[in-house]
Amino acid sequence: MYAAPSSVSAPPPPYRPQAGGGRPYAAGAVPAGALPAGGRPQRAMGGGGRTLSGRIDLSGPQGTQLRTAIAAVHRICPEFHPVQVLRRSGRSVLIVGTTGRATAVAKCLLDHSPAWTERARQEIAAYRAFVRHRPPVRVPRLVAADPDNCTLVVERMAGRPAALQRHPVEAPPRADIKTVLQAVCRVNQWRPPAGLFGVPLDYAGRLNRYHELGLLTDRDTSDLQKLLHGLAHAAGRQGGQGQGQFCHGDALLSNFLLSPAGPVLLDWDHAGWYLPGYDLATLWTVLGEAPAARRRISRLAQAAGPAARDAFLVNLMLVLTREIRTCETAVQRMMRDPGPVLPGATGSPGEAQRLLLRRLHDDCGMARRAVRAAVGTR
Ligand SMILES: Nc1ncnc2c1ncn2[C@@H]1O[C@H](COP(=O)(O)OP(=O)(O)O)[C@@H](O)[C@H]1O
Ligand SMILES: [Mg+2]
Repeated sequence: MYAAPSSVSAPPPPYRPQAGGGRPYAAGAVPAGALPAGGRPQRAMGGGGRTLSGRIDLSGPQGTQLRTAIAAVHRICPEFHPVQVLRRSGRSVLIVGTTGRATAVAKCLLDHSPAWTERARQEIAAYRAFVRHRPPVRVPRLVAADPDNCTLVVERMAGRPAALQRHPVEAPPRADIKTVLQAVCRVNQWRPPAGLFGVPLDYAGRLNRYHELGLLTDRDTSDLQKLLHGLAHAAGRQGGQGQGQFCHGDALLSNFLLSPAGPVLLDWDHAGWYLPGYDLATLWTVLGEAPAARRRISRLAQAAGPAARDAFLVNLMLVLTREIRTCETAVQRMMRDPGPVLPGATGSPGEAQRLLLRRLHDDCGMARRAVRAAVGTR
């Protein structure tokens, strides 16, 4: 059995992430606190440089990009009045605005490379599917969408993100984790009609790719392939039914908004059918500072028996390997360009990334041992 071994990893010391930093791994979303959902825009308060001012700066090359994005929004939603940039990355920009009496969020793709275009279209397809088939969690209402231009406008929801960072440096409150886990379990029990959602992850292909990149050893790969074969065999016995689970596919805490009306799930571009436990594996991975939550997740993942446990372990190894790869890239980038150390910061952002990387390697070692044990019991 997979005994949640989170106590093995040495907890890294707390650190202060760069405020509003542009590094995708270090900084989380800007809090969406400047506008009341569904109400009139208020003037945003500058909170430690994290919230943006109520004005949108349309000067310079970034302004040109923003004007293009707003023009794309106006083509599908002429009444959209932009108020504030919520978040911007090289990939996309999120703009809060008003549409008559309501507030909305426009998500516009900036990098139209094929991979990002595909993902943006997947997210639009998910929101369109939700119009007729409501999922068992709260999601923003679709206002307008243009898959050709990869522009999506949805209702702005009230609430605070369950975390701002991808890997929170402090354990979130227990009540928040409970809410998030309940929401994920509800999503995972949902069976939307066949054909609405695809299969976003090619497990065998992903395994081979990580093996070729040297991220998985020969032994890891063969162990995981054995688990995959066992799962396929079990699915065959059930006539191909019962193995797939509907997952959000990117169950990071920053994709949950918590509000008194209940949690809201955002960012649906990876939604579809996975081996059971993909969302739980994602949450386990990012909750390194919450060992009790990890134990709970492991118990949930194993509750349905050995096949569910094996599926969770395959998912966990793939998610951890992806995180290690992304984190290694971030560490290398920071070594090339360390950036300024902020006043009051304890430890450089590069050091925080290195500590995260070390923890992820520890976690991967534990998952690897659990995979070996699972293969041994088959
Ligand atoms: N409809 C919405 N209502 C309120 N806040 C939102 C909404 N959509 C996005 N946000 C905020 O913007 C952040 C980024 O949105 P998300 O769709 O997750 O984009 P990304 O793909 O860049 O992660 C979220 O974490 C959330 O704080
Ligand atoms: Mg997100």
